[in-house]
Amino acid sequence: MLTPTEEAVSTGKLIGSGAFTRCYELASDPSRVVIITVDPLKEAYSDISIDPPGDHFPQLEWIAHGLYIAPRYERVTAPKRQLTPEDYAAYKAARRLLPGALFGGKHKWFSDAVYEISTQLIIQGHDDIGCALQRGMDSVMNYGHDISMEISPRNIAVDKQGRLILLDVFYDVEEMHGKDNRARLKKRKRWLMDEGCLRRHKTTYY
Ligand SMILES: Nc1ncnc2c1ncn2[C@@H]1O[C@H](COP(=O)(O)OP(=O)(O)O)[C@@H](O)[C@H]1O
Ligand SMILES: [Mg+2]
Repeated sequence: MLTPTEEAVSTGKLIGSGAFTRCYELASDPSRVVIITVDPLKEAYSDISIDPPGDHFPQLEWIAHGLYIAPRYERVTAPKRQLTPEDYAAYKAARRLLPGALFGGKHKWFSDAVYEISTQLIIQGHDDIGCALQRGMDSVMNYGHDISMEISPRNIAVDKQGRLILLDVFYDVEEMHGKDNRARLKKRKRWLMDEGCLRRHKTTYY
């Protein structure tokens, strides 16, 4: 939680949203974003960010429960053009492996299917992304029950070097279904404001 001397995080314009999250520009620095979320897995990314930095995951700085600051990554609209050839090949291979692993009926748990994908990627020579996925799974498993994966343009990003950032490829299967995440997110946002952690940036009109 913020100490009383620290300033509340101030949000600028909304730049993205998903099932669990609203993402805003950080008012004081548009090169960074404010993440307000009820996704329990986000905490895993802040763990990875600290010890040691995970190259293919977003760098999330924990501010308060459900509140993070992260660098603003570029959206991926044309993967082939934006990613390095190596990361593009790994991204394509992961997308190819996904349906068979997740829905092929081989695994009791989605988590096992995701680990299978990472192993297959390593076997196919995509060691870098394969190992990153394994490491990410080891971390998100601390915060979820059964973890599945979706790798699509809206859940990835790219850093300044063209490296694939696995922005939000994992999700907890139970959290995704059967919970009113919109209402929970609204409540979380109100709570963060009441606690003095978050405020809306006031535009000054001249
Ligand atoms: N660090 C970031 N930089 C730029 N955009 C981001 C960042 N984090 C999230 N977003 C945007 O917010 C959206 C929702 O974030 P995401 O982590 O996918 O949330 P959810 O868990 O709800 O799916 C993303 O699709 C993306 O557009
Ligand atoms: Mg998402």
